[in-house]
Amino acid sequence: RENYKMVLKEMNRTAAIYFNYLLTATSAGKHALEYYHDRGFSDETIQRFGLGYANIYENDLYQYLKKQGYTDAQMKDSGLVRIDERRGGQDMFWNRAMVPIMDINGKVVGFGGRVLGDGTPKYINTKETAVFDKSHTLFAMNIARRSKRRGIILCEGYMDVIAMHQAGFDNAAASLGTALTMGHATIVKRYTDEVYLAYDSDGAGRKATMKAIGIMREVGISTRIIDLKPYKDPDEFIHNLGKEAFEGRIADAVTGIVFEIDGIAQGYNLRDPEEKIRFTKEAAKRLSALDEPVVRHSYIEAVAEKYKIDAADLKAMVTRYGTIGL
Ligand code: CTP
Ligand code: MN
Ligand code: MN
Ligand code: MN
Ligand code: MN
Repeated sequence: RENYKMVLKEMNRTAAIYFNYLLTATSAGKHALEYYHDRGFSDETIQRFGLGYANIYENDLYQYLKKQGYTDAQMKDSGLVRIDERRGGQDMFWNRAMVPIMDINGKVVGFGGRVLGDGTPKYINTKETAVFDKSHTLFAMNIARRSKRRGIILCEGYMDVIAMHQAGFDNAAASLGTALTMGHATIVKRYTDEVYLAYDSDGAGRKATMKAIGIMREVGISTRIIDLKPYKDPDEFIHNLGKEAFEGRIADAVTGIVFEIDGIAQGYNLRDPEEKIRFTKEAAKRLSALDEPVVRHSYIEAVAEKYKIDAADLKAMVTRYGTIGL
């Protein structure tokens, strides 16, 4: 069992080295190398992350792995190849920019493959295998866990992580095209109790941020939210405004509770007295989740001032929610 897992990891590593060779040392990979360069990734970054290119042929990797001695059954179990009854081994990734995904120990367990340019699907990821458990894997966590920077930055995409690391933010990691789970949070908690969320600034990203704040709170991690506007994600932000500006956004990041209450406020017309009361109740409910009395009190004051609510009224409401445990 453990032995077989080692075989699958070794095969993934062999594939990563092959994809990297195609990218950096063959004319087949030229346009992919151009793609990475156009995105602003340096050759040093490409080597650091072991980035690669999957060829245009339908069984290019299959043939290569076969020559290395891997069997059809092993290749199928790695998720890199599927075995077609008539055509034999067929690669899962064709003509894509390949990002190896490593486990916490730096062993390659899967890949994300991005289309070169526009086109669908934008990303293909290795399916779950005996060695690739998406709900317990965070991209680049093997590097981020050793960072000297404060906390861990979590974002949506591989490209965001790579852009952040290139800019010096080597404490960045990402969940893999899936929502953040308690499994991810538990892993992060081993290394830090402070997380910066840098999800996309669109509606989906805001929703994911709200969810992540709650999950992190459950495992005892405090959150701060990095505002990326007017840009869509960390990659675009750093590309346009640079690393000093990003450092500034980290310094200005608001706490999870402030982000939640500001988000709630957006759903109400606060000039309408009825709506303002409903907002105040929602805000009080959130504030009552803060266990530390000193912390809770200071946030009550801050929210009361920002939203022009009587602090004593808000405090009474928070206490009531706290008592009935809603
Ligand atoms: N994703 C995916 N499949 C898709 C789209 C997205 O698996 N069809 C995952 C990928 O892990 C991706 C992340 O969700 O990195 C975030 O998606 P998105 O914001 O659309 O992509 P970006 O990371 O911004 O990709 P890029 O900058 O390359 O366009
Ligand atoms: Mn170039
Ligand atoms: Mn997105
Ligand atoms: Mn992007
Ligand atoms: Mn994005």
